[in-house]
Amino acid sequence: MQQSTFQFPAGFLWGTATSSHQVEGNNFNNQWWAWEQMEGRIMHGHKSGLACDWWGGRWQEDLDRAAQHYQNTHRLSIEWSRIQPSPQQWNDDSLAYYHTILKGMKSRGLKPMITLHHFSDPLWMSEQGGWENPLSVQWFAAYVEKVVHALKDDNELWITINEPNVYATFGYVMGLFPPGKKNIMAAYRVLVNMVKAHTAAYHTIHRLQPEARVGFALHYQQFNPANAGSVLDRWAADIQSKLFNEAFLKALVDGVFSFGVYNTHIPQAAHTQDFIGLNYYTSSLVAFDLSKAGELFGRRFFPPQALLSETKYIACVPQGFYQALNWVKLFGLPIIITENGVEDGQDKLRPVYIESHLRQCARAIREGIPIEGYYHWSLVDNFEWERGWTQKFGLWALDPQTQTRTPRNSVEIYSHICQTNAIKDE
Ligand code: FCB
Repeated sequence: MQQSTFQFPAGFLWGTATSSHQVEGNNFNNQWWAWEQMEGRIMHGHKSGLACDWWGGRWQEDLDRAAQHYQNTHRLSIEWSRIQPSPQQWNDDSLAYYHTILKGMKSRGLKPMITLHHFSDPLWMSEQGGWENPLSVQWFAAYVEKVVHALKDDNELWITINEPNVYATFGYVMGLFPPGKKNIMAAYRVLVNMVKAHTAAYHTIHRLQPEARVGFALHYQQFNPANAGSVLDRWAADIQSKLFNEAFLKALVDGVFSFGVYNTHIPQAAHTQDFIGLNYYTSSLVAFDLSKAGELFGRRFFPPQALLSETKYIACVPQGFYQALNWVKLFGLPIIITENGVEDGQDKLRPVYIESHLRQCARAIREGIPIEGYYHWSLVDNFEWERGWTQKFGLWALDPQTQTRTPRNSVEIYSHICQTNAIKDE
């Protein structure tokens, strides 16, 4: 059979994504660092430590790798606790260092995308109640103003908040992220404040930089009913999707944050996105289960036939990615894939994962879905939150002790796709 090739649109963004706490090292002034010092919080007691030593300068060699392998963009995040170490204090040296990094990207032909909040909060902020405190909205707006003012000449793509749904669910419902709460109403308060904070950031950025393009990164998990013929399974899957996938995004479209029976009107939040950032990793089946009241009567599990990742964290379901893209397109905005990837130290699944997901992306583009770019998670193995160093998401392996990087086979696979701006059909 003859193989055909799909050509991505000219100017398609090809990159990888990272976040400050996961790669910089020595971020001792945020709530994650404090969390890592507590016993039992991080698997095997792992600590972020030097991470990938980006603050020590190793971003240079890593971004060299990205550029040499034909990536044309990189998504990084700014560490709030470095910019505003205490409420009254702004650190211009840190801003200057980010400026240097952005210049370094430009000189390598990498268009930057900046995330303003990627899970880490300054310690002073979490000590005052963090995102549960309504003041978080103005704290965030002040920080955003400072950063955008300083960096706007070198960046036009902004992600305000990374995965608010994951931040709220892991930190306030499951207790896996700081502050380790299990209180759904606290999660609700956090999300309302994050909708308001995103809104304030959106308007601040556009005031300072009219040509900027602003969005947030939605973590979308495809939930399909375990038995499509069952009304109850369909209901259970739908509820999971409404709360986890839809609530935050919809608030930025129509100004109403709906969370089950609770509705908060935030009219100024309507129409505050220039594109939708989509983080897609996996899909689950949902079966109605009366014993799962705490999980909204939905028992979630991976599709039995799907290939599972090394630590069984992710099921490879490219079809779910296609479903996700078809759902996101309904909001009528351009889409950027801000994260997609798999943890795989042996690089057995990653090649299949990358190619199969990008084929679904190609299929969606062919059908007219306006996708502008793809950021693979991640460039180098990095500190994976409460999973510590146990999960290896990098195209390059990292030995955090020696800081040695080793390319995995997937480097060449992804590199070829980026270079040709194309992917072959199966
Ligand atoms: C996403 C996070 C990112 C990384 C990947 C594996 O949910 O945004 O920081 O942890 O998962």
